Amino acid sequence: METFIGKPVNRVDGRLKVTGSARYTSDHSPENLVHAVLVKSDIAKGRILYIEDAFAKQAPGVLLVMTYRNRPAMVMPKSNWSVPMLLAEDLEPLKDDLIHYHGQTVALLVAETFEQARYAASLLNIRYAEETPAATIPKDDEILTAGYAPNEVDGHPASYTHLKEGVSSIHAAIEASDVTVEAIYRTSFGHHHPMEPHATVAYWEGDRLTIYEPTQWIVAARNSLAAALSIEPNNVQVLSPFVGGGFGCKTQVWAHSFLAALAARQLQRPLKLVVTREQMFTTTGHRPFTAQKLYLGAAQDGRLEAVRHDSLTTTAEISEHIEACGHKTTAKLYRVPNIQVSQRLLKLNTGAPMWMRAPGETPGMFALESAMDELAWKLELDPVELRMKNHAESDPMEGLPWSNKHLLECYKAGADRFGWLTGNRTVASLKDGEWLIGRGMASAFYPGYRMASSARVNLQIDGTAGVSCATHDIGTGMYTIMTQTVAETLGIPMEMVTAKLGDSTLPGGSLTAGSMSTASVLPAVKTAAEAVVEQLKQLAVTKAKSPFVNKNANELQLGRSGLTDGTNTVGYGELLRLIGRTSIEATKTSGPGSETDKFAFASFGAHFVEVRVHEWTREPRVSRVVSVMDVGRVINPKTARSQVIGGIVWGIGMALMEESLLDSQTARFVTRDLGTYHVPVNGDVPEIDVTFIDKPDQNFNPVGARGVGEIGITGVAAAIANAIYHATGKRVREVPITMDKLI
Ligand code: MOS
Repeated sequence: METFIGKPVNRVDGRLKVTGSARYTSDHSPENLVHAVLVKSDIAKGRILYIEDAFAKQAPGVLLVMTYRNRPAMVMPKSNWSVPMLLAEDLEPLKDDLIHYHGQTVALLVAETFEQARYAASLLNIRYAEETPAATIPKDDEILTAGYAPNEVDGHPASYTHLKEGVSSIHAAIEASDVTVEAIYRTSFGHHHPMEPHATVAYWEGDRLTIYEPTQWIVAARNSLAAALSIEPNNVQVLSPFVGGGFGCKTQVWAHSFLAALAARQLQRPLKLVVTREQMFTTTGHRPFTAQKLYLGAAQDGRLEAVRHDSLTTTAEISEHIEACGHKTTAKLYRVPNIQVSQRLLKLNTGAPMWMRAPGETPGMFALESAMDELAWKLELDPVELRMKNHAESDPMEGLPWSNKHLLECYKAGADRFGWLTGNRTVASLKDGEWLIGRGMASAFYPGYRMASSARVNLQIDGTAGVSCATHDIGTGMYTIMTQTVAETLGIPMEMVTAKLGDSTLPGGSLTAGSMSTASVLPAVKTAAEAVVEQLKQLAVTKAKSPFVNKNANELQLGRSGLTDGTNTVGYGELLRLIGRTSIEATKTSGPGSETDKFAFASFGAHFVEVRVHEWTREPRVSRVVSVMDVGRVINPKTARSQVIGGIVWGIGMALMEESLLDSQTARFVTRDLGTYHVPVNGDVPEIDVTFIDKPDQNFNPVGARGVGEIGITGVAAAIANAIYHATGKRVREVPITMDKLI
């Protein structure tokens, strides 16, 4: 029998994508379409004094100028995981004259054409009474007391302490250590820029709304829209068959989607709204700024005695976002007897921060893994050896053994592939012409999440199969791995299987975030496919015309595209015909159970990086990356590798380029296009060598896979900063590490 799981098969939707035939939200233009544009606040805090809209209303083609004065009624839903609903902002759109951030929507202009809508928007004259916005970020040790502590962080107190018996305080444990590191690390605001921007195409048929919407949780999008519009969830169909990247910004419903649906209902016409690239810098989420103070205390032999990690991260007036830096990294990664992590939040007048690829872990691992490198230099210990000495067999915070951890193998395999040289190291000692060379490494870490999902599988009389789930393929390969799983479980070629997703009328899937879709959706797909085979076996031994009648169902096995009793093989189509059925179908749900009381689940990895820093200009370049990942069973090494590479490329951007500055006078992000907000391009990205340990996590779920979406970025910025230190002798504790910081 041919196997597909674990094979690097091509994407089943690859051809559609490279030929441009995959249709994304804004590619849909229903008949009689109208176009909407958003008008944004010019100030970050204050009040609208007046809106002069007479010229806009008279402009050619204009159908609607919606502001807080005439917005149709809606109910602002609240996030609720059990319904589920996810709302990005605690702010009803166009509710009143109050302004909370620069880029807040103040009007929606609708016209017959996009150009007419945009022109009319330029005629809108809005005057504001401006107040001083909150936009100042505290310096140095002020970060320890600024802002406020949230109620809880990741299920634990905002200040979480775990001390060995007899130890009076974390401070005492650090003081008592042979060698200590104390430093503050900072990470920049960042912005999600998936290739496909946010967009909505909405149309109504009576009380029924059909809405194309790129989303990472189609079920929650449906429920949130239904609640906001006061209609039944069954009367909302959300369609999201292709999503051009998500990274967290498409997990929740944003204001523009509600406004688009309201305007389409009022006008009784299909409506299209695309959020512009510039608007995506203010309107649809960002990674908050973080300042983190790390204290490490270790014995002379390198064993950690105490760690303390205090984080201050920014949030907004209109939503509480917790970028849990210490709780998600320092409290979990190493075996340390004394741990303290704390979190404070600073409210600013910005738009809502939002989960952005490994939220918490990405900035947290930059700080922790930089500090570990500083400790290694102080101890004159190899940084790989330091990490191996502090390997944790269990999750220190939860007190549960790691279900399936192969981090030591990641270090070993990575060091081998990279050609890591142990022994004495000297800074600024390696040169190639005018380039200083440095090598650095860091661990990678991301939790294993899983959520209940349902899936439907059917087998047709023509021998083909279908699999469907209201899940998402945000570029990750979900269509492909669903197809692989059904083809292998039924024993038919992949070409005979059609996967359907991205439609809220299909059986409900998990959130596609937290790297959980593979671990959540595939168990349901596999169980449903197995149920189809089981039903067919039962029918085959009971139906009179079946060649297997009166046999024991247990004697039947998968044969070539059908069932066999060892001597006789009958194809699925033929068998269905003989038993008088046109199809067999099963819908199954699979989710986590009691294993979560016994084990802690996470993925691990190691990054090894070589950098070159120009001797005179101090331009830093990444010249080589080797990463080894322990992510459980790898369902498709090709799509999984692409996920990890994508994460590493983003780590290069975080380390060297991506910088967003919030102007402290106006609370505006001053970088609002991809010309000034630098991201890595092909020329910035070296060859990236990614390999997998590929050991199934049998305790986690029936397919043994964890996730690969987010772990790739974790630790990369630290590995690069550590390599830059080796190259130059300069420790930079704030990313991005631009040339000015190396002079
Ligand atoms: Mo990811 S930030 O959980 O979409």
